[in-house]
Amino acid sequence: MKRTLIQLQKMKSKEKIVMITAYDALFASIFDKYVDIILVGDSLNMSFAGKEDTLSVTMEQMIYHTQAVCTKAKESFVLFDMPFGTYTNKKLALKNATRAYMETRADAIKIEGGKERAKIVKYLTQNDIAVFGHIGLKPQSVRAEGEYSIKGKTAEDKESIIEDALAIEEAGAVALIIEGVKPDVAEEITKRVSIPTIGIGAGVECDGQVLVWSDAFGFFDEFMPKFVKSYADGKGQLTEAISTYASEVKSGIFPDDKYTY
Ligand code: KIV
Repeated sequence: MKRTLIQLQKMKSKEKIVMITAYDALFASIFDKYVDIILVGDSLNMSFAGKEDTLSVTMEQMIYHTQAVCTKAKESFVLFDMPFGTYTNKKLALKNATRAYMETRADAIKIEGGKERAKIVKYLTQNDIAVFGHIGLKPQSVRAEGEYSIKGKTAEDKESIIEDALAIEEAGAVALIIEGVKPDVAEEITKRVSIPTIGIGAGVECDGQVLVWSDAFGFFDEFMPKFVKSYADGKGQLTEAISTYASEVKSGIFPDDKYTY
């Protein structure tokens, strides 16, 4: 049974929502049974394409990866992350979000931003696009801000993030990703909005959690934010496997009779 938006919204305050990123069919097929939402995140520009930040990913690339994920996401809800620069005004946002819906089977789209994007969120929702907001630390703002920094440390900042959440909910968003904020900020937002909140580096009080798969399973170790828990030593295990394969081929151990017709 495919997860629906209505089901996700009913989970608020009752059952935690599990979200993970995936960028291809293989990983989507592994994660599908265990998670409620697969996010085809623009983080693929870093963990898949090796770039320094998320900003240069294109609509074409996001569509390609989302199509791959959708072929195997039989049960989970699929979320399409709108690339930087593709939703800077209402018309452009609708054109690109419509493309995401028409060219993939994504169930909703995600855009970064708070009150300054509320009109865009409203326009999209009025045109039958389901929108997830993304507030707090916004990775697409990294070049403008000069760094990734935790938000909500001062009373003023906290108030501003809460205003963002309320504005995005008011505009019609169906859920909110809250990234890199002090846990009391996420807790207050979660209590004050009626849509589900999904945290990443935002504490345990959110309605759900999201992690980037390559961080969560120990494949990406260039930098490790405090909020990332490693559930596997993916890089270590794969390194051992590839080195064993290479040495068995070099020495003629593989393929032996068992692997030969
Ligand atoms: O692109 C992504 O993976 C994200 C998560 C960090 C929420 O936006």
